[in-house]
Amino acid sequence: MEYVTLNNGIQMPIIGFGVYQLTDDKETERIVGEAIKAGYRSFDTSSAYFNEEAVGRAIANSGVPREELFITSKLWVQDASYDKAKAAYQASLTRLGLDYLDLYLIHQPFGDYYGAWRAMEELYAAKKVRAIGVSNFDDARLADLILNNHITPALDQVETHPFFQQKTALETMKKYDVQIESWGPFSQGGQGIFTQPVLVDLAKTYQKSVGQIILRWHVQRGVVVIPKSTNPERMKDNLNVFDFNLSDTDMEKIAALDLGHSEAINYLDASAAEMLNGLKIHD
Ligand SMILES: NC(=O)c1ccc[n+]([C@@H]2O[C@H](COP(=O)([O-])OP(=O)(O)OC[C@H]3O[C@@H](n4cnc5c(N)ncnc54)[C@H](OP(=O)(O)O)[C@@H]3O)[C@@H](O)[C@H]2O)c1
Repeated sequence: MEYVTLNNGIQMPIIGFGVYQLTDDKETERIVGEAIKAGYRSFDTSSAYFNEEAVGRAIANSGVPREELFITSKLWVQDASYDKAKAAYQASLTRLGLDYLDLYLIHQPFGDYYGAWRAMEELYAAKKVRAIGVSNFDDARLADLILNNHITPALDQVETHPFFQQKTALETMKKYDVQIESWGPFSQGGQGIFTQPVLVDLAKTYQKSVGQIILRWHVQRGVVVIPKSTNPERMKDNLNVFDFNLSDTDMEKIAALDLGHSEAINYLDASAAEMLNGLKIHD
């Protein structure tokens, strides 16, 4: 495994495991257990995924020491305020059965996220969380948050994959020393990514799977990835990307696949704010 060093000096595995859309309790526990056996040590969940308890049980049953794991969860929009964020953090910890998180993120750039950030800065100062960050913050929102607060987010988790490469966001994050993390590193399995001809050709050339080519491309760009797979073979494949290098020419071939926009969600569109503000995860 390779690691990135976040802006506060802590290390994070460059490949982790995402658990979005794993909502069946027993099944999630089993899949996360398989992922730990496959070698994953970093896990990405959220209060909005409704699976923190199952993830926590899998961690507890794994026998892997807590300090060898890197656990991320996220604060949902409904709890994005100074008053609610600390209670939401504690509720996530309780569901996970942990006494600290390695990384806590503001899941969406909506609600009173400035208030939430101040509460998270206090959690960090009190050493209750090892790093704090954001998710789905575009360049302007990210820069504005940084310019008006004490702590620079350690990381911004945004959608990025070969069809949506976030080239400008990557530059902005480098400028402010914010680590980029990809959600949907495989475009969530959509847009025909696994049969895209350039990627299929590269898989043949390097004798790797298309999934491995895509993850290697992310890693070479310095992007932290959290692919999700329910299949034990693909779980292992997705970790096995450290024994080859894509050449500059091949990196450029993938760079040329960028459409420059998401086909999943546009965070600059009012409909995204309306939809995500409307999603309530508790009373
Ligand atoms: N912050 C946010 O707003 C946000 C939004 C979305 C996701 N996320 C996070 O990002 C994580 C990853 O994104 P995601 O789960 O949506 O999508 P993803 O990881 O891009 O894609 C998952 C899909 O790819 C397939 N797959 C995985 N490895 C493969 C391989 N080697 N070859 C072929 N198919 C493969 C999986 O199928 P199989 O299971 O059958 O292998 C699944 O259908 C999430 O789990 C979540 O933690 C965050």
